[in-house]
Amino acid sequence: MKKWVVANWKMNGSKELVGAYKNAFGNADNLIACPPFVYLNAIGTNAGAQNVHHLPKGAYTGEVSAQILAEIGVKYCLVGHSERRQYFHESDDLIKIKANACQESNITPIICVGESLAEYLDGQTIKVLVRQLQNCLPDSPQFWVAYEPLWAIGTGQTPTVEEISNVHYMLRESLPGVVLLYGGSVSALNASEIFAINNVDGVLVGGASLDISAIKNIYNLANKAR
Ligand code: 13P
Repeated sequence: MKKWVVANWKMNGSKELVGAYKNAFGNADNLIACPPFVYLNAIGTNAGAQNVHHLPKGAYTGEVSAQILAEIGVKYCLVGHSERRQYFHESDDLIKIKANACQESNITPIICVGESLAEYLDGQTIKVLVRQLQNCLPDSPQFWVAYEPLWAIGTGQTPTVEEISNVHYMLRESLPGVVLLYGGSVSALNASEIFAINNVDGVLVGGASLDISAIKNIYNLANKAR
């Protein structure tokens, strides 16, 4: 089975990194690069956006619609990343509307879900995820889901293999046929054991995606795990 690598640069990157990605992954069929909006056109075929406005057009200074993304060839868009939820106060309802807007423009939304540290410690992970999925999923089935525990993002900490496996089993049971990603402190060191987990179709990589040799290693491990 194909294993996906989705690189979320967040508010980082440069023209130099765009060039490095084009050289390294220009022909990849399983790597999606999500740079800041301004680099999307330059990065080429496997471009994903990190965010989108929920309306098709209008007087919303500074915003970018799914229609505009689709016109330049963007095929994927992260929706509801925890940083969008935390810093930009995106609600489950808004995330659902954004996911629907992506689908209307033939962009596959990658819907991000995950529990906080307090929820994790309280044993609430599955309950939180089920609630987020009930509220965030778009109306039609063409979407992906990324499980990103908030406490694993940028911390160097990850759930155990068993914990990821349990979550992805639940996700697979409720969402057959949906591409399921794991994200949160994925690195070249832990990628192979994550790719080997049942029902993990790929990884969503933040920090390590900014280091071209690290992301190449993760990409090579994805291809070995196919
Ligand atoms: P890190 O890989 O830096 O933990 O970030 C994960 C993430 O938020 C990807 O969307």
